[in-house]
Amino acid sequence: MTALVIVAAGRGTRAASGTDVPKQYQLLDGVPLLRRTIDNFVDIVELDHLLVVIASGDRSRYDDIVGELSSRLLPPVEGGDTRQASVLAGLEALVAHGPQRVLIHDAARPFARRALTERVLNALDAAPAALPALAVADTLKRDDGHGAVRETVARTGLWRAQTPQGFRFDDILEAHRAAAKAETTEFTDDASLMEWRGHQVVLVAGDEANCKITTADDLERAERSIKRETMLHLSDIRVGQGFDVHRLGPGDHIILCGVRLAHDRALIGHSDADVGLHALTDAILGALGEGDIGIHFPPSEAKWRGAASEIFARAAAKRVQVRKGIIAHVDITLVCERPKIALHRDKMRAQIASMLALNLACVSVKATTSEGLGFTGREEGIAAMANATVRLPAP
Ligand code: CTP
Ligand code: MG
Repeated sequence: MTALVIVAAGRGTRAASGTDVPKQYQLLDGVPLLRRTIDNFVDIVELDHLLVVIASGDRSRYDDIVGELSSRLLPPVEGGDTRQASVLAGLEALVAHGPQRVLIHDAARPFARRALTERVLNALDAAPAALPALAVADTLKRDDGHGAVRETVARTGLWRAQTPQGFRFDDILEAHRAAAKAETTEFTDDASLMEWRGHQVVLVAGDEANCKITTADDLERAERSIKRETMLHLSDIRVGQGFDVHRLGPGDHIILCGVRLAHDRALIGHSDADVGLHALTDAILGALGEGDIGIHFPPSEAKWRGAASEIFARAAAKRVQVRKGIIAHVDITLVCERPKIALHRDKMRAQIASMLALNLACVSVKATTSEGLGFTGREEGIAAMANATVRLPAP
C-alpha cells in the first residue's frame, strides 16, 4: 500500500504580498494552488491514501478548496512549526493505515506531472528512497560575504532536489522520529533525513516544470504560464449567432438582457420573453453546435412558463463548462424604437457578465432602431441578435 503526504502547513511568508492568505490557498488562474497540487495525484490509482497536512487555522480554507474531493482524501491533520514537524505529523497519522511506501510532496509544487510521480514510484520498487532531481546547469560561485566572489564551486555531481520524494514508510518514519528526538530541525527535505540515517537514496529525473512557488514573483509567473497553456489548449475557436423576436402587447414592464424596465407595453412569450437573453442563449448553443433554446427548453413544457431567461443563458454557459471551454466574448444587438437602451446598457452588461461569470470587458450590449420601418419600427415587437465567441479544447 502506498500513501501520499502533501505538506501545506507553511505560512508562505516569502510569497506574502499584502494578503494574509497563505500562498497555497491563493488562486492561480481561478483555481487555488493547493487544489491544483492535490488534483495532480487524485487519479493515480497506485496511491491508496492521500493526506494533506494543514495549519491549525486553515481548516475552513481547506474544506472550501477540496470540496467534492474530500471522499478521496484522509481527514487533514495539523502540522507543526517547521516543515519537518509537519511531515512527521502526517506520517504519524498514516501509521494506523499501515502503508509500506509513502511519497512526501510540497503543496507549493502545483505542477508535478503524473510521469514524474510514476518515475519515483518505480524507483521505489528497487531502492529504499527515491528523489526527483535536476542536474545543476549554471556555474556556481561562493561569495566572500562582502559582495565579491571567493571561489567557483565545481557543479559536477550537484543536483537540485524536488518533491515528491518516495520512501519505505517504516524507514522514513523512524528517521523523522529520531530527528525529532534529537531536536534536529536543519533538514530541508526528507531525503536528507534518510541520508543521515545511512539509507541509500536514488536519483530519478526531475522535471523543470515542477517548480516550487516561493515568492510573489513565482506566483505571478505560474499564473502567466497556466493562462498561456490554457489559451494554447483552447484552440478550437467558434463564433455562434442567435436571433430572436418577441411580440409587444399590453403591460407595464419588459425584461431585456436580465434587466426589468418600466414600459407602457410588455413582451409576450412563454417565459419572461427576454429577447436579448434568448438570442444570447442561441448564440452560445450555436457555437457549441448543440441545437437551440427550443430544444433545450421546449415552450410546450409548462415549467418554463414565466421562467427567468437567465436560467437559459446560465444553462448554455454550463454546457460550455462541461465541454471544458470558455466563453471569450458575447455581443448583443437589440432592435427597438423604445425604450432607449443606452440608459440601461451598463446594467445589462453587468447582469450578463455576472450570469455567465465573464469580465465586464467581454460583454457588449448595443442597440439600434429600425428607423420606424417594419415590425420593430411600428413597435409591434422587439428583435435581438447575438454573437458568442467560444473557445473549446482542440478536437
Ligand atoms: N510547510 C509545512 N509546515 C511548515 C512549513 C512549511 O507544511 N511549518 C510546507 C509548506 O506549506 C510548503 C512546503 O512545506 O508546501 C515547503 O515550504 P516552503 O516553500 O518554505 O513554504 P512556507 O514555509 O509556507 O513559505 P515561507 O518559508 O516563505 O514562509
Ligand atoms: Mg518555509
